[in-house]
Amino acid sequence: MANINNNYLNLKESYLFAKISEEKQKYIQNNKNKKLIDLSIGDVTLPLPPSAIEGIKKACQNLSKKDTFTGYPPSSGHNFLKDEIIKNDYLSRNISIDNSEIFIGDSSKSDICNMLDLFESNITVALQDPVYPVYVDSNIIKGNNIVYMTDIYNFLPPKKHIDIIYLCFPNNPTGKVISKELLKKYVDYALENNTLIFFDSAYEAFIQDKNTVHSIYEIENAKKVAIEFRSFSKTAGFTSIRLAYTIVPKDIVINNKVTLNSLFKRLKDTKYNGPSYLSEFAMYNVYKTNNFNELQENINYYLRNTKLLVNFFKSKNITTSSTVNSPYVWIKCKDNMNSWNFFYYMLDKFMILGTPGSGFGKSGEGHFRLTGFGTYEDTKEAIERMSKEL
Ligand code: MLT
Repeated sequence: MANINNNYLNLKESYLFAKISEEKQKYIQNNKNKKLIDLSIGDVTLPLPPSAIEGIKKACQNLSKKDTFTGYPPSSGHNFLKDEIIKNDYLSRNISIDNSEIFIGDSSKSDICNMLDLFESNITVALQDPVYPVYVDSNIIKGNNIVYMTDIYNFLPPKKHIDIIYLCFPNNPTGKVISKELLKKYVDYALENNTLIFFDSAYEAFIQDKNTVHSIYEIENAKKVAIEFRSFSKTAGFTSIRLAYTIVPKDIVINNKVTLNSLFKRLKDTKYNGPSYLSEFAMYNVYKTNNFNELQENINYYLRNTKLLVNFFKSKNITTSSTVNSPYVWIKCKDNMNSWNFFYYMLDKFMILGTPGSGFGKSGEGHFRLTGFGTYEDTKEAIERMSKEL
């Protein structure tokens, strides 16, 4: 039998959100008459925006007629959607992106993981801590060396050479943003040290602060060193229908001879048959009909939940790092409990499911994450339950 990739044995036994889902099922099984409020995984609860539904209907009509029927999409997605992305997400911020630099796919998670195929094993990557667990797992699978940046806000140039720095802003799990000045330091470091930046901006649509960026390309020369991951899951509520895109600028040249863009295209051509036409058309219709207010209404709804939670924890003098630029609330656990003890405390005492901070890395120990993606009614009820005894 073929030998397995031994690196898989170095992963934690289960993926963080898979473990939480198991705990949820167990709880429901054993507590059939209790109403659990799930504020754990960042999954949307509002229906899709009407213009996206209209787009799916139009796509179905197109597929039902001979002259508008279409088969396999290009492996990086259709130009009709790329053109709208360029116009609405980049030109509107004075950033010029060519449509060959856009790779539309089903999710940022898969692009973030698959991008590592382009590099040799055993490279050194720098990750924020606490951190989205996908960055950790994908590098463990690849056999890379991981360096943690525990104080991302105090820019300390790493002591050894870093091949890739991962930055996620607004941050999952802490909800924090980064100032333009600080991000520029990371970009300058990358330019000087031949380092790549993977910039995950899945939550950019939630930004309220002015002194931060929606795209890393707002920083001068970032196109020479940074790849940007964007997702429609949280921006447009597409967690069910799946759609995301990655920008791989043509300016990034590896070993002075090959563009990362051409390699990623080669990877996509081999491994993918492109995103679903229905999902692409759904988002195309939102852009084309200028229905951004529908997206914004949903985002405002989740931000209102987030604010309610943040204000509640503040009123209880519970430390929260959230600045309400994302749908996440990051708190310090009560009475110095560890993250998993607090997880079970919240479950048993208040029937509230959250995410233990330690699942996001060592620095997350003693912390806990809740999401604003629940319904308004559930969020209010969760606060009522906690206000009695927390
Ligand atoms: C989260 O809860 O951290 C996210 O929903 C996970 C994801 O986007 O994959």
